[in-house]
Amino acid sequence: MWPKFFTIFLILHSFFLLHGVAQTGPPRPNPTITRIRPRPPLIPPGTKLKPRQPINNPGPLANRARILYITQELKRNITYDPKGYTKTWVGNNYCLFKGFFCDVVPDLNITGLSSIDFSGARFGGPFLNFYRFIRNLPDIALFHANSNNFTGVINRNINKLRYLYELDLSNNKFLGGFPGYILGANKLSFVDFRFNTYNGSVPYRLFNIDTDVLFINNNGFTGRIPQATFGNTPANYITLAGNKFTGPIPSTIGRAWRTLTEVLFLKNRLTGCLPFEIGYLVKATVFDANTNILTGPIPQSFGCLFSLQILNLANNQFYGTIPESICRLPDIYNITLSNNYFTRIGPVCRKLVIAQRLHIQGNCIPGFRLQKTQSQCAAFFAKPRTCPRANTFSYVPCVLPTAAEAVQLDKAKVTSVDDMVPPSPRSYAALEMPRHHH
Ligand SMILES: *[C@@H]1O[C@H](CO)[C@@H](O)[C@H](O)[C@H]1NC(C)=O
Ligand SMILES: *[C@@H]1O[C@H](CO)[C@@H](O)[C@H](O)[C@H]1NC(C)=O
Ligand SMILES: *[C@@H]1O[C@H](CO)[C@@H](O)[C@H](O)[C@H]1NC(C)=O
Ligand SMILES: *[C@@H]1O[C@H](CO)[C@@H](O)[C@H](O)[C@H]1NC(C)=O
Ligand SMILES: *[C@@H]1O[C@H](CO)[C@@H](O)[C@H](O)[C@H]1NC(C)=O
Repeated sequence: MWPKFFTIFLILHSFFLLHGVAQTGPPRPNPTITRIRPRPPLIPPGTKLKPRQPINNPGPLANRARILYITQELKRNITYDPKGYTKTWVGNNYCLFKGFFCDVVPDLNITGLSSIDFSGARFGGPFLNFYRFIRNLPDIALFHANSNNFTGVINRNINKLRYLYELDLSNNKFLGGFPGYILGANKLSFVDFRFNTYNGSVPYRLFNIDTDVLFINNNGFTGRIPQATFGNTPANYITLAGNKFTGPIPSTIGRAWRTLTEVLFLKNRLTGCLPFEIGYLVKATVFDANTNILTGPIPQSFGCLFSLQILNLANNQFYGTIPESICRLPDIYNITLSNNYFTRIGPVCRKLVIAQRLHIQGNCIPGFRLQKTQSQCAAFFAKPRTCPRANTFSYVPCVLPTAAEAVQLDKAKVTSVDDMVPPSPRSYAALEMPRHHH
């Protein structure tokens, strides 16, 4: 009788502990950089431009000689063109070239080259000089060239491209240190360098740039994620996955609460404990830090991630009790905590395990199958484990259901994973080698 009674007591106790509480912890921090949203229009409002011209009869073309010249140079350098782009690069009308797209250039009011799409072209050659090419496309706005052999140094004057706002150079052959001059291209709202072999640390100013998308996964970046600036990012989607970043997840992350939607830290060498400030990210739908060397408990603030759909902390060294509040998050679809050292789980989370929405194999939780052995767990806990700022792990920077409300909520049936509409996160696709992206 006594052990059963004891369990019930514990459960009730944890309800009061976790859910009877009102808001605790400091208020949400603000970003240190003010952004203008919605973004100011590219063309001053009220400006009447010439309508878009037919591509076979575009009228005078902006920067025609310069663009034709550099295109022929690139063509000579391309020795492998399996999809037959370059054979269309003939004549004087670049609007007809495969991969080239024209539109009226706002400040010139004539047709010009607004966009390049070489994605999946798989151009090869001994030296396909990206910077030299784009630098001679003065009116370019979108440059998408994933899965090619572009390489070379990116120089300062990339910032002279006054309309450039999307740059996809993923899966090319760029190497060496981070291309710092990109940070001067201050119209960029889409930055994609994933799947190159860039290395070294990332400049702290990277997180100050005003971009919506920042994909730098699957390179060889090392060093820490800059603590001072990380939270300044206004990006909705950030993928740092598959690099060699070390050190902790910056606590400044909480400043990004107005914008940060999906953030992928997985497969790095991150250490330390989770900052409670992650709990400020009310817009976050995906938080994935799997396969690092992170430790500590999950902060109670994670119960405030009211938009969260996917949480993955697998393959780390987390321990402690799985907070019941994360299992009550209204939109949660899939929580993966496998291969850590969690020791306790409450009744709400147990229901999610049964619904196959919480994965806990490879932990130290008594009564569940596929857990670590007692000796593995004992060896881990033989070493004293603490986190800095220990008191912050109990902060709850939002109002959670009261104990009474929680009891009511917990009576509700938990939906099985098969009966849910899977979320469609955007950033995971970035972890796959790009092929035919447009
Ligand atoms: C652009 O050209 C069109 C027609 O050629 C003209 O009607 C319009 O006023 C021009 N706009 C500007 C901003 O110069
Ligand atoms: C593209 O780059 C890869 C790796 O550097 C190289 O192996 C391949 O030969 C290059 N392709 C061409 C056609 O140059
Ligand atoms: C073409 O190759 C030459 C010789 O390697 C190089 O100097 C030049 O920058 C390349 N240009 C382009 C557009 O790739
Ligand atoms: C980065 O890569 C370049 C080129 O592959 C190499 O020469 C350099 O030593 C590397 N630097 C670091 C810090 O790993
Ligand atoms: C939940 O996430 C894990 C880890 O990414 C994955 O292996 C599993 O298939 C996911 N489950 C569902 C139902 O999406």
